[in-house]
Amino acid sequence: MSMFVSARFVSAWFTCACLLLVAPPALAGDPPIARALLAPELAALNDEELARIGAMSPLPALPADPTNRVADSLAAAQLGHRLFFDKRLSPKGISCASCHDPALAFTDAKPLAQGIATARRNTPTILDAARRRWNGWDGKFDSLWSQALSPLENPMEMGSSRARLLQVVRDDPDLRARYNAIFGDFPSELAAGARDPLATVPAPVPATAPATQALIDATTANVLKSLGAYQRKLLSGPAPIDRFVDGLNGKQGGDLDALSPAARRGLATFVSKGGCYQCHRGPSFTDEEFHALGLAGANGRVPDDPARLAAVDFLRANPFNCAGILSDARDSAKANMVKGLRRSSELFGQFRTPSLRGVALTAPYMHDGRFASLDAVAHFYDTLVGASPIGHHGESVLVPLDLGASGRADLVEFLRALGTDVSLGDPWKVNPLVEAARTESQAVGR
Ligand code: HEC
Ligand code: HEC
Repeated sequence: MSMFVSARFVSAWFTCACLLLVAPPALAGDPPIARALLAPELAALNDEELARIGAMSPLPALPADPTNRVADSLAAAQLGHRLFFDKRLSPKGISCASCHDPALAFTDAKPLAQGIATARRNTPTILDAARRRWNGWDGKFDSLWSQALSPLENPMEMGSSRARLLQVVRDDPDLRARYNAIFGDFPSELAAGARDPLATVPAPVPATAPATQALIDATTANVLKSLGAYQRKLLSGPAPIDRFVDGLNGKQGGDLDALSPAARRGLATFVSKGGCYQCHRGPSFTDEEFHALGLAGANGRVPDDPARLAAVDFLRANPFNCAGILSDARDSAKANMVKGLRRSSELFGQFRTPSLRGVALTAPYMHDGRFASLDAVAHFYDTLVGASPIGHHGESVLVPLDLGASGRADLVEFLRALGTDVSLGDPWKVNPLVEAARTESQAVGR
């Protein structure tokens, strides 16, 4: 344990300690993990550490999103599916899939995202993004649907606008018919007339009357919600860790050999001495919280990205947030979480603990893609080389681990077992426009 333990960790620890006083430590999973089944690599773990393994699977059902009334509408997901791959959304021909490429586990495999210009952050996968409490590296968004507006309007990413997005939907007969079927007729006030209220030239956001702007925003929110519905379909497949935990729990389909001996050694480190479980825990390997790891900033020294601190300011003011007029559940738990957000200097430099499911497929790593491989990440946690000394903003439970080369290799072996299958056979994970063209040409050939 480090000397610099945050208040949150201390209170969490006391809570745990109290629970332990009340009840004897129980193992997660039903029936409990049988010690007799444990491979030698895990035999030295105590009950609490074993319970951490038991909690790694299964993934729970996808959480509902009441702020998006079409979150689970098939028609909305189908519209969103088309928009996700549509290059017309950007004047520079960039689609969501340009950066979130299904063939690269919905990333771009680059350190920093490349849109119209080089962005400041690494492109994360969007597989399982629907499971996150907050979206984005700094949790700047409280829903998938509100997130989608940001790359669209970011001049470094897609360089587009609400008006252009709506124009594409309005002027494409297929997209418009789909929109009408889900949300009711596309507003007649936004029809192309003598003066097109959605004209994007010369100004990217048209100077319109407030009433028209409100209508543009509401219609945009509908389209964004279809993108949100689509992204709820993008889920990771079962991983070796799931079969392994099933094996420990004596469940059907379980397989105690799903993890190699090296991966099992890495797992033991992960839930004990490595301390990874403190933040990367549960079936998604994240506490859904924010932490500053002390990664050096651009000047090679102190961290310089305000991260969560700036995100909280943005989130509270965002008219597209879950508590706002465009949300479909302004009194939901999520909306109340947003209303309850408070800015505080300790948020400086904090990033969301990323999920580690499928992490082997999403190099390079960290919010700025600074680590090219999992080996480099393991080296960081092992040595803390490249971390700035904990400053006054610091919150850290990180201590050098001294695992050595073989201990690091084991840890990486374990991380690889958290998902490798991106199930490209899944129709939601292919470009529907290409797919449609393929079936059409097949039909012609027949
Ligand atoms: C130029 C590349 C680029 C394009 C185009 C792009 N994104 Fe992203 N995406 C990123 C980057 C970079 C981030 C991380 C931003 C941050 O957190 O600061 C991100 C984050 C996300 C996240 C959050 C994932 C999580 O883990 O919470 C979602 C969801 C997402 N993008 C969806 C989309 C959608 C939908 C579109 C199209 C409307 C899109 N993106 C277009 C680069 C891109
Ligand atoms: C104090 C909480 C905390 C602990 C402990 C911790 N992590 Fe992390 N981890 C994070 C945060 C936060 C990030 C994102 C940091 C960033 O992008 O700047 C991260 C990022 C990562 C990434 C990169 C993921 C990606 O998609 O880029 C990997 C891999 C990882 N951690 C593995 C581990 C391992 C293995 C351990 C144990 C040796 C560990 N972590 C311990 C909080 C933690």
